[in-house]
Amino acid sequence: MTRAEAIADGLAQVRERIAAAERAAGRVSGSVRLLAVSKKMTADDVRAALAAGQRAFGENYAQELRDKRAALAQDSTLPHPPEWHYIGPLQSNKIKYVAGQVALAHTVDSAALLEAIEARGAPQACLVQVNVAGEGQKRGIAPGDLPALLDRFAAMSHVTCAGLMVIPPFTENPDDARPYFAALRTLRDRESARARPHVELRELSMGMSGDLEAAIAEGATIVRVGTAIFGARQRDV
Ligand SMILES: Cc1ncc(COP(=O)(O)O)c(C=O)c1O
Repeated sequence: MTRAEAIADGLAQVRERIAAAERAAGRVSGSVRLLAVSKKMTADDVRAALAAGQRAFGENYAQELRDKRAALAQDSTLPHPPEWHYIGPLQSNKIKYVAGQVALAHTVDSAALLEAIEARGAPQACLVQVNVAGEGQKRGIAPGDLPALLDRFAAMSHVTCAGLMVIPPFTENPDDARPYFAALRTLRDRESARARPHVELRELSMGMSGDLEAAIAEGATIVRVGTAIFGARQRDV
């Protein structure tokens, strides 16, 4: 099997898992979008996934996003352009590579970050990342601080909030992650009850290769899947 065939095969398997999880949860077919996490993968890997029908790609590193975007933007042979999402930590000096450049920035977790994205002056849809488990070293806003951060979107002219995102604590058994996914959905339901300018909480970005079924059972609208499509990544630097 070539690398391109392996990627097409991985995508087909993940699509089947998503469809089965939608059915099992009694959800409408096609209600969950697949974000292919192409972090550490090459532009050729993204080309292979595009050829196999994948549209949306998630990157964790701002410069890697910038380089891959540039490489593929010049490629007129693609069946359709990739839709880029940013799912990594957002440092203020890297915001220029992300703000106004991606369909969705999944990792906004502070008012300072929100204002830095706004200051770039380009339209940008965001998700707010929530640290539902209250893990000390993890990114994401504390659930108790979420209402105030959502209120801040009212003062923005360029940045909008389209939903919430979570990275749950690592669990051996994927079902053990379910309470964290449920907690994000509960927060979404609670905060949706309050109308706020520039905030429409339609997306729940949750679920990865190991636990996408549990996330879909709890209402995920976007699953972020890397390993199950592209295979193992090199160790993170
Ligand atoms: C925020 C985020 N979501 C999803 C993924 C994909 O994880 P997996 O390879 O387990 O599917 C990663 C991988 O690094 C990630 O950082």
